Amino acid sequence: MKNITLSLYALLITISPIYGENNPPPSNQVYVVKDYAHLLGMPGFSDQALNIHFKLYQGYVTNTNLLLDILKQYATDKKEQTPQYSEIKRRLMWEFDGMRLHENYFANLGGKGSQMNLSGPLYRQIENDFGSFEAWKKDFIATGAMRGIGWAILYYDPLSQRLINTWINEHDTGHLAGGHPLLIMDVFEHAYLIDYGIDRKRYMEAFFENINWPVVESRFKWNN
Ligand SMILES: [Fe+2]
Repeated sequence: MKNITLSLYALLITISPIYGENNPPPSNQVYVVKDYAHLLGMPGFSDQALNIHFKLYQGYVTNTNLLLDILKQYATDKKEQTPQYSEIKRRLMWEFDGMRLHENYFANLGGKGSQMNLSGPLYRQIENDFGSFEAWKKDFIATGAMRGIGWAILYYDPLSQRLINTWINEHDTGHLAGGHPLLIMDVFEHAYLIDYGIDRKRYMEAFFENINWPVVESRFKWNN
């Protein structure tokens, strides 16, 4: 039995590629654009605005893949010490977060009038941390109304077991390390300018009308 195990081990070593300087591991993490066409027709969001938003999101996916490929080439060419490498590395996080936040944003829309489960764990946590659902919503809206472009995110910090409404500057600044994003609201102007002009508050009202609460709640349960 021992010999069989050793033989299998030797075979595994023989057929396993050995990655090194001249043989980097293959890039198998190609990000794929997700389809959110089911959101078209959502009340308070015109198809024109949504289609433009989908196109913007697709750009983040394309650029994330592109920058990963460029960085891989820089590593192959031993150019990691160049300023270009540093700047592309920084840019990657902006593109990646832009991609992922849009995916989470679109995924927590399309609720078709869904309501939060009033006896569920997320509702209880909101009452515990904010006093009431309305108090939480008021703070979330106030966060989203802040001047500037970015995101309002309801984060759960599992270490302290508390919820915090956060402002994310652009895509990549302001995240809670170790936290879990539960509800994501885009407050870049492209999210509302076409349908509401500069009236961000009306857009946020429409956003709340379309929250997919089962999705949001599943993120919270998943984290516990
Ligand atoms: Fe956006």
